[in-house]
Amino acid sequence: MKADFVVDLAWGDCGKGKVVHHLLKPTPAPYTHVVRFAGSGNAGHTIYHNGKKMVTHLIPAGVFFNVKSIVGPGCFVNVKGFFKELEYLEQNDIPASSLVKVAYNAHVITEEHIKEEESESKIGTTRTGNGPCARDKYSRVGIRAESIPELQPYLVDFHDEVFDETQRETLILFEGAQGHNLSVDSKFYPYVTSSYCGVASALLQGIPHTAARDVFGVIKCYDTYVGAMKFEDENDPVYAKIRELGGEVGATTGRPRQVAALSAYFLDRAMKANGVNILIVNKMDVLRELNWWKIKDNMNQIIDLQTEESFKNYLQDLFPEVKIKFSYSPEHI
Ligand code: IMP
Ligand code: MG
Repeated sequence: MKADFVVDLAWGDCGKGKVVHHLLKPTPAPYTHVVRFAGSGNAGHTIYHNGKKMVTHLIPAGVFFNVKSIVGPGCFVNVKGFFKELEYLEQNDIPASSLVKVAYNAHVITEEHIKEEESESKIGTTRTGNGPCARDKYSRVGIRAESIPELQPYLVDFHDEVFDETQRETLILFEGAQGHNLSVDSKFYPYVTSSYCGVASALLQGIPHTAARDVFGVIKCYDTYVGAMKFEDENDPVYAKIRELGGEVGATTGRPRQVAALSAYFLDRAMKANGVNILIVNKMDVLRELNWWKIKDNMNQIIDLQTEESFKNYLQDLFPEVKIKFSYSPEHI
């Protein structure tokens, strides 16, 4: 067994969907399974498939490429949302029903969980019932997918699925959700989600560390965040411009995202914790349009690198061992 990982190194919304899509593109797709390992309908993955913009929340992107796709044990499933998403994909000619599977031991988000979050404003959650579901899981009073009659045709045992010795070698692509700084144990607690969002979280689905191969870390060339934390005290009008040019609006909630210069300090922490060997830096087109090349250094001081070239060199010098790809459009890497 081998596994590759696509993880977001910041606050989510850096373009994991695009990277996953790119990795699955060769035919036949070079993976036997695509697995989501954390989060729920709180996530929004935007993918441009055959030129068309598609947004998914829970179902892994393997369904776009005829690859078996598993909602792993670490995910929280809104059953209605799951079926709504299946219908949306099927209507767009993606044969998701025959490809998607749900781990029998994934937990289910109930109507009560969602109701409980209806007026949540302390953290600024997505109000999708994610936190209450996580709480019930860890208090051992949760409901698992196995108890839901409509889900029966989709259920699998993750272990049996990926350790099936009658099949060809398993090659998993783990599709992350949210991002390193939103991990439950991050520095930003309580302004976090209720999962750990990194590579270790993927391993927790039940695969050995020896299976780990490539770790694709995904960032944007600036930071964004949605939630109740005050993200940035800078009043630089350039941030509003970046928000507008970058279309920085939440894919799940439609909320505007706060914008700041990329923090090299927090990036470095996320790179190390996840063992990233390939870094994808998205949305370079936005900063190019503004010709604005600032970054926050490891003392959290903004430095002006002046040119695109020195911005790139700065990052490459920080991570000399890492292969860095700079991306300039929603569709290409
Ligand atoms: P929750 O995951 O709905 O509990 O929200 C907790 C925090 O994580 C809030 O600040 C959300 O905006 C943020 N969050 C949750 N999912 C995502 C995501 O997919 N992208 C970006 N932020 C997210
Ligand atoms: Mg997103």
